Amino acid sequence: MRHLMSPLDFSVGELDQLLDLAQDIEKNPQKYAHACDGKKLATCFYEPSTRTRLSFEAAMLNLGGSVLGFSSADSSSAAKGESISDTIRVISCYADICAMRHPKEGAALVASQKSLIPVINAGDGGHQHPTQTLTDLMTIRSLKGRLGNITIGLCGDLKFGRTVHSLINALIRYENVKFVLISPEELRIPDYIREDVLVANHIEFEEVERLEDAMSQLDVLYMTRVQRERFFNEEDYIRLKDYYILTKDKMKLAKEDMLVLHPLPRVNEISVEVDDDPRAAYFKQAQYGVYVRMALILTLLNITV
Ligand code: NCD
Repeated sequence: MRHLMSPLDFSVGELDQLLDLAQDIEKNPQKYAHACDGKKLATCFYEPSTRTRLSFEAAMLNLGGSVLGFSSADSSSAAKGESISDTIRVISCYADICAMRHPKEGAALVASQKSLIPVINAGDGGHQHPTQTLTDLMTIRSLKGRLGNITIGLCGDLKFGRTVHSLINALIRYENVKFVLISPEELRIPDYIREDVLVANHIEFEEVERLEDAMSQLDVLYMTRVQRERFFNEEDYIRLKDYYILTKDKMKLAKEDMLVLHPLPRVNEISVEVDDDPRAAYFKQAQYGVYVRMALILTLLNITV
């Protein structure tokens, strides 16, 4: 039985296969409409979510399966003090596969160790968010035609942003990917990514503070929200929350075919006037998230169509 905790749980070859499957699902959705008949997905969300939970649910429904679950810790037995290990043992009796989001780093891993069904990490604190990474990879591959030979700017909260941590881990495995890390001093990428992932693997990267200084060299700009819920005090959040705002004017500095991605939700970091720019791909990205989660469910349940 396989779980998904980190994008590195799949080899590059397996990732290619998964993305090929997602692409086939996009082209031929009818072919997969009954692939999961009779199967159930549990969504166990101890932290807020719109896209991740609903895209998992949509994915399972599109495959003909059904869904059950909870969308906040208050509405589960966690509020009574139940451990994750006990919760997953019980959920293993009710469902065939589980997507779990939790505010604590490593929570999904703990669950996977006691689970009788595949567990998917749908975000564990400030650590990892592998299914967002699958979504990001599918978006870049579909719209740019490649995953190697790109310069990607990651902008905003690189300290707490789990989507950024997972995406860096995944992208270093492709040829000639250069990272431009754009953040204020306080929100720089954690050392365990800079040293153990980037430096240790001899990956080309630079750290800059001004978005304007990075813009012209980028093939992809990945914007992120300042992660309010992970700050220790509100004052710091307020000081940093509008540090970056991508506007039409700043887009003039970018290549004509640069892609703007964002895992969403957006707060202020991308002005709504940018939404009509053909380079803005964040809503398409959300759509790709459904196909890639369909492909993931089929892969972890070992279902071939
Ligand atoms: C991201 C997350 O939960 O980490 N959202 C998502 O899953 N699309 C990004 C965020 O919340 O800022």
